[in-house]
Amino acid sequence: MTKKISIAIDGPASAGKSTVAKLLAKKLDYVYVDTGAMYRVITYATLKNNIDPADEPAIVALLNTIEIGFQSNGDAPQTVLMNGEDVTDVIREDLVTNNVSQVSAHEQVRKNLVARQQEIGRNGGVVMDGRDIGTAVMPDAELKIFLVASVEERAERRYKENIAKGMTVDFETLKQEIADRDHKDMTRDVSPLVQAEDAKLIDTTGMSIQNVVDTIESFLVI
Ligand code: DC
Repeated sequence: MTKKISIAIDGPASAGKSTVAKLLAKKLDYVYVDTGAMYRVITYATLKNNIDPADEPAIVALLNTIEIGFQSNGDAPQTVLMNGEDVTDVIREDLVTNNVSQVSAHEQVRKNLVARQQEIGRNGGVVMDGRDIGTAVMPDAELKIFLVASVEERAERRYKENIAKGMTVDFETLKQEIADRDHKDMTRDVSPLVQAEDAKLIDTTGMSIQNVVDTIESFLVI
């Protein structure tokens, strides 16, 4: 395929979006954009500046002072930069994870980040993952995927990731956190997590990563 298209991948937390999106981008030689990382950077900055995650005007003022950057590192995970500072690991910590739904629910926060995401995706050749990519950020994307998996399986994936990182975590707590985040992301007023009408639904429960990538690629053969 020669034409560079836009691919939107949405779905709930830990459904495998970023792993799959990264592999797909690499294979197609497209840019991978992790929009969740952008909401995490703003959440981290909010907490670091002792701003209340409920204080939308203060977060928006802060947002205007923050530049978010991504650096690719070949096969290693992308580096996420906040005004040049490497925040790749710190934005994945529990404190950020447990506050990001509240920060990302603010309308003006979303407006600002959606505009940045649209600018990155303007010329196509992108695989962008998030919650509202197919519905709000790139409603004209040529291919839209909605990835889901059972809460049980998503918690298991998170559990294994944490163990691999040497972190001890309680499985039931993880399950509860994922269910809570799903609820908040799906019931917020602005751009809630919802499957776009023209998105293709893939339930990844019991599927291998390669299997999911192959399934998405099968949609590309037009
Ligand atoms: O994909 P993630 O778990 O890193 O995303 C973190 C949070 O950011 C998620 O709970 C909801 C929010 N988010 C969003 O509201 N819109 C997006 N496009 C991406 C993420």
